[in-house]
Amino acid sequence: MATLVLGFESSCDETGVALVAFEGTQTPRLLAHALHSQVALHADYGGVVPELASRDHIRHALPLTREVLARAGRQLQDVDVVAYTQGPGLAGALLVGAGVACALAAALERPVMGVHHLEGHLLSPFLGEAAPAFPFVALLVSGGHTQLMRVDGVGRYALLGETVDDAAGEAFDKSAKLLGLAYPGGPALARLADFGDPDAYELPRPLLHSHDLNFSFSGLKTAVLTQVRRFDGVPCDQPRADLAASTQAAIVDVLVRKSRQALEQTGLRRLVVAGGVGANQHLRTELARACAALGAQVHYPDLVFCTDNGAMIAMAAALRMQAGVEEPRRDYAFEVRPRWPLDTV
Ligand code: KG4
Ligand code: ZN
Repeated sequence: MATLVLGFESSCDETGVALVAFEGTQTPRLLAHALHSQVALHADYGGVVPELASRDHIRHALPLTREVLARAGRQLQDVDVVAYTQGPGLAGALLVGAGVACALAAALERPVMGVHHLEGHLLSPFLGEAAPAFPFVALLVSGGHTQLMRVDGVGRYALLGETVDDAAGEAFDKSAKLLGLAYPGGPALARLADFGDPDAYELPRPLLHSHDLNFSFSGLKTAVLTQVRRFDGVPCDQPRADLAASTQAAIVDVLVRKSRQALEQTGLRRLVVAGGVGANQHLRTELARACAALGAQVHYPDLVFCTDNGAMIAMAAALRMQAGVEEPRRDYAFEVRPRWPLDTV
């Protein structure tokens, strides 16, 4: 009999719910998932407003659960385990998901499991057809995190390097805002970059030649701001497109260089790219080129699972149970962990 895991994601500005089934040693299967994005809700503010995010998660968690169960042709009583994002993320938003998940689990008398959001991203390629084999290097690039990890198996994560200041997604978003683009800026900046010359502006690539695997992106926004100020009164859009392309090139250049260095240092030849910035086409093209030169393979989750979603949370819980790394618990008291290093899970 398959075990059914219902998963909730609510760490930031997407409410995600999904149902995953696993049996024996077969890779868990996604039965259904549903997502509500809060992008429109936060757009007027130019970024996520935590209190509005929490309230919106409350509004959507149960309707999305009904939608997922209907799509999978299952009842709430069929659920064996309830999983939720325990952290890292916005405290209030996390509390909503944890509260709903633990209340449902208590009512159904089923066990619960709190999942690390980045472990969800890390294992999201398992939602697709061609799951990578362990061990691999993972590049986690989201709005809040930029990390290189060595992954030896489910629950076996070692940090190789991370950002010392802004995350890659944050660098995209902040630069986009300076360019007058709407939130969330990453995809908008990438679209504008298509019309620009990536060599037009020489932007900083901090730590590019440092011998460690750390990143730094905070200097980039200052450089972008300096250029944007020079555009005042410039009637044409080309300089903005050029600056967008140059910014994207600077971020991608550093991500690719450090990923290649991580593969070289570990001797591994598989790279998994996860998190919202993994949706960036220029990053994908450049990583493909760099990895081909090394004889390494790059794995991505399907595009819909690059950004936050419930499927990766249900999948991570299923994989943890299947691997015997963690048993779900029957105690429904919960706490969330807004800050939580992945290598301590
Ligand atoms: O993983 P994610 O959905 O949420 C977090 O956990 O942070 O990542 C969101 C981040 C945002 O910074 C967003 O601008 C960025 O991913 N992003 C992109 C693209 N799509 C999403 N950045 C660059 N190019 C994209 N196509
Ligand atoms: Zn995320």
